[in-house]
Amino acid sequence: MKIAVLPGDGIGTEIVAQAVKVMEVLRGEGVKLELEYGYIGGAGYDAAGDPFPAATEKLAQESDAVLLGAVGGYQYDTLPRPMRPEQGLLRIRKSLNLFANLRPALVYPELVDSSSLKPELVSGLDILILRELTGDIYFGQPRGIRTLESGERQGFDTMHYSESEVRRVAHVGFKSAMKRSKRLCSVDKANVLDTSMFWREIVTEVGKEYPEVELSHMYVDNAAMQLVRAPKQFDVLLTGNIFGDILSDEASMLTGSIGMLPSASLDENNKGLYEPCHGSAPDIAGQDIANPLATILSVAMMMRYTFGNEELAQRIEGAVRRVLQQGLRTGDIFQPGMQKVGCAAMGDAVVAAL
Ligand code: IPM
Ligand code: MG
Repeated sequence: MKIAVLPGDGIGTEIVAQAVKVMEVLRGEGVKLELEYGYIGGAGYDAAGDPFPAATEKLAQESDAVLLGAVGGYQYDTLPRPMRPEQGLLRIRKSLNLFANLRPALVYPELVDSSSLKPELVSGLDILILRELTGDIYFGQPRGIRTLESGERQGFDTMHYSESEVRRVAHVGFKSAMKRSKRLCSVDKANVLDTSMFWREIVTEVGKEYPEVELSHMYVDNAAMQLVRAPKQFDVLLTGNIFGDILSDEASMLTGSIGMLPSASLDENNKGLYEPCHGSAPDIAGQDIANPLATILSVAMMMRYTFGNEELAQRIEGAVRRVLQQGLRTGDIFQPGMQKVGCAAMGDAVVAAL
């Protein structure tokens, strides 16, 4: 198993280092993992003048899986858009055809009180947001800033979804639902957008192949409200790229901290890119206070989805549970009475629990 390790920017290096410690333990036990490092985001720009250098693309394409930290930093904010760190992320998703983005939002019993919602609303919460990741208004052409005949300037983007794009991610959604509680809620804005009307039509059609799955549809504004009103009504949430971007950030807060949320982005053959849902947090970078658990849990997802090793996945997840049970907390999930630890100490604790 060859893994491309792309720490990226900000806290990316610190959190990825903790995930690598976990992989080293597995390696010590004889699990065949070969790690190779590359640059992405601002680090790519610094090293090669490109947020997604050709060498990184080659490495990613030759690897079975990619572990990514995060991208972005203040020093890159004024670069022209093609050179901005986010472009590295968007381009690697597109280049590897990672159309299915799985973002589980799981509330650990130990962290119920860290949630911004009342404990009874989130206790036991376990939802999976499945976000389409390579289409939609994120990639639609044409886009840009133009001058109208009137002389006024206008910014514009294009939202579209082709049938094959909706179909393939819908299949992943129904298959995921089959492995869970067999409920799938597709989120769109079909009361306003033609793209969404089409999305709904195709999802409904694909649903006929999965008669056991209970399919429902919800408008995105309502879904945003329901997520904070009664989140436990959801099991799998299937949605497009931009709605999924927004809803997954919202859902992360239900769990206590975005610092706990891993993600997997998969292609047709379960090759995957694994990264925490959070960003590069430049304000706390280099201080050894970031939460590495989302990245460590991303390694668990890698074992599950790309390497098909459920046992290793559960072992890593179990180790994370254990350090939470021991009362160890990084600042983002800290509660009085718990033991505050830094990023590296949290990584060491997971290694010890493993
Ligand atoms: C995410 C991020 C990215 C996105 C940004 C950094 C381009 O917000 O992974 O959710 O919008 O997809
Ligand atoms: Mg986002």
